[in-house]
Amino acid sequence: QSGLITFDPGLGNTGSCQSDITFIEGDLGILRYRGIPLEQFQDNPNFVEVALALIFGELPNQEQYAQFSASLTKNANLDEDMKHHFAGFPRSAPPMAVLSAMISTLSCFHPEFLELEDETQFARAAARLISKVRTLAAYAYRRSLGLPYNYPDPSLPYVSNFLHMMFSEPYKQYSMEEEVLTALNLILILHADHEQNCSTSTVRMVGSSGANLFASCAAGVSALWGPLHGGANMAVIDMLEAIHQGNMTPEAYVALAKDKDSSVKLMGFGHRVYRNFDPRATILRDVCEKLLNKLGINDPLLEIAKKLEEIALSDSYFIERKLYPNVDFYSGIILRAIGIPTSMFTVIFAIGRLPGWIAHWYEQHSQNDGKIWRPRQVYTGLNEGRFIPRSERG
Ligand code: SDX
Repeated sequence: QSGLITFDPGLGNTGSCQSDITFIEGDLGILRYRGIPLEQFQDNPNFVEVALALIFGELPNQEQYAQFSASLTKNANLDEDMKHHFAGFPRSAPPMAVLSAMISTLSCFHPEFLELEDETQFARAAARLISKVRTLAAYAYRRSLGLPYNYPDPSLPYVSNFLHMMFSEPYKQYSMEEEVLTALNLILILHADHEQNCSTSTVRMVGSSGANLFASCAAGVSALWGPLHGGANMAVIDMLEAIHQGNMTPEAYVALAKDKDSSVKLMGFGHRVYRNFDPRATILRDVCEKLLNKLGINDPLLEIAKKLEEIALSDSYFIERKLYPNVDFYSGIILRAIGIPTSMFTVIFAIGRLPGWIAHWYEQHSQNDGKIWRPRQVYTGLNEGRFIPRSERG
């Protein structure tokens, strides 16, 4: 049955997770959101529309879309007192640390959402979180550079407003290029959900204790931060930069990634579920080429990435282990072209993944009538012993 995963490690304790949000068939490179193949979201990509489908189960009609969009616009501002918290972070603070802390802080400023009575209340909390995550991310970025905050512009749609808050200057509004808006909507859509990945399972686990939506998603941000998970998009750029700086050739890097004695991995390659291509990587590679051409950007990192892919996909080490490019392999090059700094790449992943976390939190909340997740273990420790007083210990 699609989405059925059991946590039964053979101990008879089955905590199973059933979900009807996202379906993945790893051997065939299939990914569907609420039954719709990912590839069908590429024309006129609209992240808000996909977020609504993931959270509420189907694509919104005109009225539902307009209502939710109006709620996103209305709730983009932060409580003015939240701004002081940013000043408490060092400018060098990792943006994912700031994002996790500030999402959790939303539960201090919006106590009305700590207990969600019904779907209407849940929808209001979801709109606030999806709207404010942009503002939190943009303020963290502006603060890191000592720049003034840009208030949200109510005339701008979701992605445009985020780019405005990130890059507008007091003397010049950020100029929105259609290709950039399309690319960023699509990047957010491609990151929006992915079944029981590390961060989504974290959100479900934390939410199963009855923790509120903000606290559960703040935990998801922390899980996503890891370099094996959402942090890989930053690590890919570091890898491509190292090769570009001439520290080593693509061939030498791939050889190092194959070496059992080295801790080096080909970042952006491999996946626990996809044992064939990651459909997101295929789309992102195409978006990357088109956007850089449209913007007239000749980024040497793209050529290096394509060279690494070519070498790895003809190498038996990667073929035997079914290692292919994943969602992180090309996404960073697109974000660079948009002008988003590497330090913010995983934050962008988090903004994209938020609707998936919210959808899973609510599914977990409404599916298991509040039962806590409690996986068991295979115990490999000592058999029963006895306490020896310290005076008798060697
Ligand atoms: C994401 O779960 C999700 O859905 C995640 C995600 C999402 O949308 O939420 O898709 C997003 O996290 C994508 C993955 C981003 N991470 C990276 O790109 C980091 C590099 N990739 C690897 O660390 C690894 O491929 C993982 C973590 C992604 C998957 O690891 P697995 O499934 O635990 O595989 P493994 O570590 O057991 O590897 C199996 C073999 C090993 O070699 P052997 O022991 O068989 O000799 O493959 C090798 C590994 O050494 N291997 C790699 C490799 N990935 C696996 N060797 C070199 N480079 C790599 N990238």
